Amino acid sequence: MCGIVGYVGTKKALPIIVKGLEALEYRGYDSAGIAYVENNHIQIIKKEGRIANLQEHLPDSPSTIGIGHTRWATHGEASYQNAHPHQVGKFTIVHNGIIENYQELKKVLEQENYVMKSDTDTEVACALLDYLYREERDIQKTIDKATKLLKGSYAFGILCEDDPESIYAIRCSSPLIVATKEQEQFIASDVPAILNDTNEYFLLDDFDLAVLRKDHVSFYHYGKEIQKEKIIFEGTVESSQKEGFPHFMLKEIYEQPQIVQNTIRFYFDGTKESLDNSLPNLEPYQSIHIVACGSAYHAGLVARTLIEEIVGIPVTCEIASEYRYKKVFYDSHTLVIVISQSGETADTLASLRKANADGIDTLAIVNVVGSSIAREAKQVLYTKAGCEIAVATTKAYTAQLAILSLLTLKLACIHHTLQEDEWLEIKEQLRTLPKEMENLILSKQYEEIAKQIYQQEDIFYLGRRLDYSISLEGALKLKEISYINSVSYPAGELKHGTISLIEDKTPVIGILTDANVMEKTMSNLEETSARGANVFAITTEPINTMKTILIPKKHLLWQSLLTIIPLQLLAYEIAKLRGSDIDKPRNLAKSVTVE
Ligand code: F6R
Repeated sequence: MCGIVGYVGTKKALPIIVKGLEALEYRGYDSAGIAYVENNHIQIIKKEGRIANLQEHLPDSPSTIGIGHTRWATHGEASYQNAHPHQVGKFTIVHNGIIENYQELKKVLEQENYVMKSDTDTEVACALLDYLYREERDIQKTIDKATKLLKGSYAFGILCEDDPESIYAIRCSSPLIVATKEQEQFIASDVPAILNDTNEYFLLDDFDLAVLRKDHVSFYHYGKEIQKEKIIFEGTVESSQKEGFPHFMLKEIYEQPQIVQNTIRFYFDGTKESLDNSLPNLEPYQSIHIVACGSAYHAGLVARTLIEEIVGIPVTCEIASEYRYKKVFYDSHTLVIVISQSGETADTLASLRKANADGIDTLAIVNVVGSSIAREAKQVLYTKAGCEIAVATTKAYTAQLAILSLLTLKLACIHHTLQEDEWLEIKEQLRTLPKEMENLILSKQYEEIAKQIYQQEDIFYLGRRLDYSISLEGALKLKEISYINSVSYPAGELKHGTISLIEDKTPVIGILTDANVMEKTMSNLEETSARGANVFAITTEPINTMKTILIPKKHLLWQSLLTIIPLQLLAYEIAKLRGSDIDKPRNLAKSVTVE
């Protein structure tokens, strides 16, 4: 996601800012830029793509003050115009977060003759500062006043032409730190950015305003000067990137509510028009092929059920290594959707090329911007998961689910398969979804269950329909990081052979969120229990006869985003107890570029 770095001191600012931005690269971004002061003028250099690309265009400037940014597109595509810093009038800013009322503010500012050059909420915030400053003529008061008008989350690094020796910084619900080292001061959105230079920093609280000059930092809270407590960072650069989490996988699990919210908000503002404008035209298609590998394939299986159930058009979902070699039946009314976190998976890429070569329309759902699959597909939708470091995917998978749910919603609108009350219910449920995800993540019950089963060598997962698709992902998570042989079966299929493997204390995890088949799955779980299995149910309804993890009941469209969380955390806790290398499991790579 986006990164902020600022520097004012005695050394050349540009190389220090670049180094700081590089330390934040792991968060993911699609453009980068720096504003610096030279001869009392603010210069801006920004480029699409990697920091290395920006670096090639940076001059050897003597400037000792500047602010830099890496942008992960939220409002508006990844482009030069939308990249930060943004400059309006006397102000130049970098911004992390989302200004929710920017459309409203934009209208007001446009009436005051401001002309926006980008699609960003950031430029609107910058114009607001310039506008307020015209009257206030005081930078601090202007910034404080702006915070009263801006709604949403933000961390700002600010330069003003009238005070070219200072950086101003303020935040609300988006992280920002101020670091200090004798005659050098820094701002950053995350600790790794400053660790090359210092490990001493101050954490800004909401609406604390920091004013950084070469030899001094002052803090204010709505005009009143305040003292902040200095924090000494004790860890390494790598541990700082984990933001205090013991593993990247856990950190990424915790990021999911925010990422799902960002991904959904990016494409959908609650109106059918936003689905029309931000997602591809799906009207020509009478059938869909989804092609992917591993977890991305599991996300595709969820989508198959969603589209077939909610929209009523046929969907096939295939493993890419099979699809690329099999006889495929498609025509000009078929859309081939490929799903990939890395955008480089060899089999998925080959399947995409096959469909492209046959003249079939293709759509890629990809996390890594500019990757091969993103470039070669006829259309691309980016998941807004940021850089995923743990080999076992979690947040990219849920971001894929989020986009697939939106595609289903758009198809349902095209095919008129949703009644108005169902549409309203779907929209309303989105409001509470991130909080419900967060509550499930914060629940303490997974460790206790993990203790009961981590020494077993076989674990079975059972579910029907959507619950089966999710259980496949749960079983994959567990086998990847714990090395336990965990397999998932459609609950009704077990008795056709596999039930012979159930013996005393074999853990069986049942997923029961689908009211239509809940009783059937419960009977199947009872069958394993009668043979000695240690049964746990992840369920939306309380069940007295079994050990349960209770999860909220949602519309089919959103349910999987909740159901997967206990499965991810169970896998994590079991792997931890078994002492495995959770972030880098044996034999696995983050990007599978071979067949
Ligand atoms: C599982 C996992 C893999 C990937 C698969 C596809 O945790 O990460 O199963 O989902 O290798 O990778 P992408 O999504 O990069 O195409």
